[in-house]
Amino acid sequence: MAKMEVKTSLLDDMIGVGDMVLLEPLDEDSFINNLKKRFDHNEVYTYIGSVVISINPYRSLPIYTPEKVEEYRNRNFYELSPHIFALSDEAYRSLRDQDKDQCILITGESGAGKTEASKLVMSYVAAVCGKGAEVNQVKEQLLQSNPVLEAFGNAKTVRNDNSSRFGKYMDIEFDFKGDPLGGVISNYLLEKSRVVKQPRGERNFHIFYQILSGASEDFLCKLKLEQDFSRYNYLGLDSAKVNGVDDAANFRTVRNAMQIVGFMDHETQSVFEVVAAVLKLGNIEFKPESRVNGLDESKIKDKNELKEICELTGIDQSVLERAFSFRTVEAKQEKVSTTLNVAQAYYARDALAKNLYSRLFSWLVTRINESIKAQTKVRKKVMGVLDIYGFEIFEDNSFEQFIINYCNEKLQQIFIELTLKEEQEEYIREGIEWTHIEYFNNAIICDLIENNQTGILAMLDEECLRPGTVTDDTFLEKLNQVCATHQHFESRMSKCSRFLNDTTLPHSCFRIQHYAGKVMYQVEGFVDKNNDLLYRDLSQAMWKANHSLIKALFPEGNPAKINLKRPPTAGSQFKASVATLMKNLQTKNPNYIRCIKPNDKKAAHIFNDALVCHQIRYLGLLENVRVRRAGYAFRQAYEPCLERYKMLCKQTWPHWRGPARSGVEVLFNELEIPEEEFSFGRSKIFIRNPRTLFKLEELRKQRLEDLATLIEKIYRGWKCRTRFLLMKKSQVVIASWYRRYAQQKKYQKIKSSAIIVQSYIRGWKARKLLRELKHQRRCNEAATIIAAYWHGTQVRREYRKFFRANAGRKIYEFTLQRLMQKYFLEMKNKMPSLSPIDKNWPARPYLFLDSTHKELKRIFHLWRCKKYRDQFTDQQKLIYEEKLEASELFKDKKALYPASVGQPFQGAYLEISKNPKYKKLKDAVDEKIIIAEVVNKINRANGKATSRIFLLTKNNVLLADQKSGNIKSEVPLGDVTKVSMSSQNDGFFAVHLKEGSGAAGKGDFLLSSDHLIEMATKLYRTTLSQTKQKLNIEISDEFLVQFRQDKVCVKFIQGSQKNGNIPTCKRKNNRLLEVAVP
Ligand SMILES: Nc1ncnc2c1ncn2[C@@H]1O[C@H](COP(=O)(O)OP(=O)(O)OP(=O)(O)O)[C@@H](O)[C@H]1O
Ligand SMILES: [Mg+2]
Repeated sequence: MAKMEVKTSLLDDMIGVGDMVLLEPLDEDSFINNLKKRFDHNEVYTYIGSVVISINPYRSLPIYTPEKVEEYRNRNFYELSPHIFALSDEAYRSLRDQDKDQCILITGESGAGKTEASKLVMSYVAAVCGKGAEVNQVKEQLLQSNPVLEAFGNAKTVRNDNSSRFGKYMDIEFDFKGDPLGGVISNYLLEKSRVVKQPRGERNFHIFYQILSGASEDFLCKLKLEQDFSRYNYLGLDSAKVNGVDDAANFRTVRNAMQIVGFMDHETQSVFEVVAAVLKLGNIEFKPESRVNGLDESKIKDKNELKEICELTGIDQSVLERAFSFRTVEAKQEKVSTTLNVAQAYYARDALAKNLYSRLFSWLVTRINESIKAQTKVRKKVMGVLDIYGFEIFEDNSFEQFIINYCNEKLQQIFIELTLKEEQEEYIREGIEWTHIEYFNNAIICDLIENNQTGILAMLDEECLRPGTVTDDTFLEKLNQVCATHQHFESRMSKCSRFLNDTTLPHSCFRIQHYAGKVMYQVEGFVDKNNDLLYRDLSQAMWKANHSLIKALFPEGNPAKINLKRPPTAGSQFKASVATLMKNLQTKNPNYIRCIKPNDKKAAHIFNDALVCHQIRYLGLLENVRVRRAGYAFRQAYEPCLERYKMLCKQTWPHWRGPARSGVEVLFNELEIPEEEFSFGRSKIFIRNPRTLFKLEELRKQRLEDLATLIEKIYRGWKCRTRFLLMKKSQVVIASWYRRYAQQKKYQKIKSSAIIVQSYIRGWKARKLLRELKHQRRCNEAATIIAAYWHGTQVRREYRKFFRANAGRKIYEFTLQRLMQKYFLEMKNKMPSLSPIDKNWPARPYLFLDSTHKELKRIFHLWRCKKYRDQFTDQQKLIYEEKLEASELFKDKKALYPASVGQPFQGAYLEISKNPKYKKLKDAVDEKIIIAEVVNKINRANGKATSRIFLLTKNNVLLADQKSGNIKSEVPLGDVTKVSMSSQNDGFFAVHLKEGSGAAGKGDFLLSSDHLIEMATKLYRTTLSQTKQKLNIEISDEFLVQFRQDKVCVKFIQGSQKNGNIPTCKRKNNRLLEVAVP
């Protein structure tokens, strides 16, 4: 699917107007208000046609991200909101695709953001141009040249913490594909006076502070430097630290950048040695020393510093010392040496420092150029980026400011020329009539400065070259004569009486009305700075240095190349280089970035209307808009114009088949736009008034809303219909499935009903047939039976005479007898064993013998038992009798009983007769002992048990002490009335005594024994045989026991297993004794 392209425009979601050309009404207030409104909404860029106005935001905005780069890449200039990237993209594409060399001119006053803008342009171009290892290295080198040059050429000023103190123009070279090949940097006049002196609140060049804060101790030691800023006279103390600037980190960045750019280690080392030497030069001090001729001669106060400098730079100390004390003038092969006084010595020292530094800076630029030079000789396309020091007005303005401001005048000049030229050319190209527009042309100011005869620079040169005494005052005098009548020149002493009483203008100053405002220059130092003199002795001393870099910086010191001609003055050099620059720029397609400073405080969010107004005025921005609008405010190529507004006319919407131009014509006719409001160029439509454009925009907006509604309507309709169709389809599917299901169900039901009906009918038919067949069979059977009976009768009637009447009965009895005989004979052989417990018995052969068979089994068993019993001895008989008795008494009554069945009754468990311990007891009981056993007598008071010997004799029951054998109680069997016990699995029993009997005094006995069943049985039998009365044995879980006077209830409960399997007895209260049986 083809990617849908979304056409956007600068006009979309605009804050204020993105292009000042569209400003309505066009005046200063609305211009400023528009900038302010946009600034407040973080829109720092605004267009005037193709010129970008940039307002310094003084804070980092998130609009320079790689995503933004991608957004602006390959987009038309007016497609997105104004941005420096749009301008860079336009310039780059026009260079790559149309083969046009480009230059990007960045102007604005100090601190307005020129350097930042130039870096943004470079980084954008680097991001969008070709890729590959080699290309990337070139890009990296080009980008990394910035930190190096900024460290050496930028400084903190009152206006800008990172003010460029040199002008920079960089040509970036590209091949035909648009890949970068290399670059060339030109530098313009470094403000070298800063090396030796800085105005209050400003700093020297960054590099000095960076070395001292960032270099390692080792490195500093090598350079013979100390970290403390205050040690160095050349470092102004009052603002050594800049907020938000990390000098140490920047030092590392610079060193890294130098490495990337391609500086060899020894080169970097030499550079820093020179920087150190400059810094240390400032610490050399002089003192006057009287000479014989009465003049003062300067002498170095402390030679230590000098010695270190010489060690560092390889200069012969005596040579340098002499160069600070003498000056040799050579004229016509004659050498004259004069001594220097202290002031001259200081002048020489500072001149040396300034020269060393500025030459080092130029060397750096040359060295960088060597690295970034394009390697191939193919034809190149060039993009120049100009970042020059901005227009500046200080309290004290000197020669440097004069030069800087002159440069800015020239740039303004070229801006005016090129914008007007471009505008004019466009109209000619497009075949549109051109109307002239008034604007301030600063050519007159340029002329005041650079005119070869009457210009200030020419005047200065003339003064410098003139024989005789030349001072700054004589220069001013000259100016006063020559320029007095010039409109833009003001001086108190000029012939023109206008300024005679102007007290704001001191006598030693002149004032120029620059395009950007009036600037008052102090003439002091103009002549010196223009001369830029360095005593030959010093340059020769430098040339003699044993330091290749320093030697190379001072080629004029070579005695073999002595040139007596004066070198060109600083002013004329600068003028020439500016002229070359201008010529260079004029051959290229210009792109403008006009930087504006929103406030003087370097602060974010502050928009100072007056300050901005001033800049707008001198930059001539309003005029720029007017020029742009003079003919037509807005222009656009036909295609994008038609694309944007085609929805406003039926014929062009949605597609116009013909050429774009005729489409636009049709469109404008249809919209009835008055004819004077627009003109058709060759490739563009020109709209005279922004109002018309806004009207178009308004119509477009309304139409877009309608279109949006239409699209929404169609979309909704489409959505509903698709949904409906889908639902319908689904409904059909569901219905068909349901019908099938319903039919299936119905079919199943009918089928099963049919089967049922069918089966019933079949059943009915079958039954009917069966009935018929049965009936038929019965009829047949009946017929047969009748026939049989009939035959039988017939036969019996015929054969009766041959049979006896009771033969049948006899046959029956005989058969029975035979069967019985067979049964008994078989039984005889199958008889089971004689053991009474043998359960085997043969199976019954005939049903009619069932009762016989059972009876036979019973009889056989009884007989077998009898046989078994007959074998018993008398003693065994007794034992079995006893066991039988026990069974009758306790079976199914007492839970203890089943366990006793297998135990033989022994009776005398204690062998009293054999144990001598019980001899006394044996003697006391002369009857036969039936039971002798140890029992537990339960204490009536607490339920605890005491062991007692229990003896049962023929007539008595005795209890004796187990240890001693002493008889404790003796009860005749006649006095025992009852024995009570529980139904449970315990051995407790109570022996109840007859009330009033001799033994009953102490009450009944509550005993417990392991052989309860045996004891109770034997007691019962003995009592029966003795008294002929049956002893009452009560089995109950609750019975009363007589203890002396009280009756106590003994209660048996299913207790816990606390004591294992042993029942426990506990006295609960006076009347209750509780036995817990596990
Ligand atoms: N686009 C920007 N975004 C954020 N901060 C900016 C931007 N442009 C400028 N600045 C801030 O303003 C300061 C001054 O900018 P810059 O150094 O570019 O000024 P300049 O015009 O080059 O001044 P000079 O003429 O003194 O060299 C910068 O150090 C930076 O802090
Ligand atoms: Mg700058």
